Amino acid sequence: MEHRIIVAGIGPGHPAYVLPAAAQAIREAAVLVGGARALADFARLGQRIMIIRGDIPAVMAFIRESLATEDVVAMVSGDPGYYSLLDALRREFPPERISVIPGISSIQFAFARLALPWHDATLLSFHGRQPAEEDLAYLPGRLLGMLTDTKYNSQTIAALLMERGWPPETRAAVCSRLSYEDETIWRTTLEEAARSEARKNCVMVVTESWR
Ligand SMILES: C[S@@+](CC[C@H](N)C(=O)[O-])C[C@H]1O[C@@H](n2cnc3c(N)ncnc32)[C@H](O)[C@@H]1O
Repeated sequence: MEHRIIVAGIGPGHPAYVLPAAAQAIREAAVLVGGARALADFARLGQRIMIIRGDIPAVMAFIRESLATEDVVAMVSGDPGYYSLLDALRREFPPERISVIPGISSIQFAFARLALPWHDATLLSFHGRQPAEEDLAYLPGRLLGMLTDTKYNSQTIAALLMERGWPPETRAAVCSRLSYEDETIWRTTLEEAARSEARKNCVMVVTESWR
């Protein structure tokens, strides 16, 4: 039987928000791939590990070589289906060799913290990319949920949205370190966020009212 890649979503970070099925796959993995933070939290002695840094071809080569003898568990933050290594894995390996265990996306977790339904939200990623202009345009009643990075952070995104017609008094929630002890939810406005210190690698939720 061919060995498989199990892509396990680990949620926003705290082990309490990892699905039991993902925790079991990670615990039982002979070969474990993940970011440095995830490996520090979840790897056990005796597991063969590879840290995902920037070099995706090297990660793919390691997985391909490992699959000759073992299943490989790849841990990704949040949900694998929402901006994760799964994209690159799908380009490299046939779908029959990939199993996905879902996780709680950081976006989903942010809306939960705000007790805000997200079925009408426009979900966007600024993580290493810029969303399409039509998704950023101001529309009355529009609700945005956004991944950020270091360049596109709470300050630069707030300024960018105001340049696209969003009123300065629009409400924004900047959700950092979700699920961890030092989690913060900063409720502010676009105007204030644009002139305040940048918060990076967080989730931003923007709306005219929290209703
Ligand atoms: C490469 S994306 C991964 C998204 C992930 N697949 C998901 O479903 O949440 C990384 C971005 O997710 C967001 N993120 C992940 N974990 C987070 C957390 N604990 N608190 C706030 N934002 C988080 C940040 O915007 C971060 O820059």
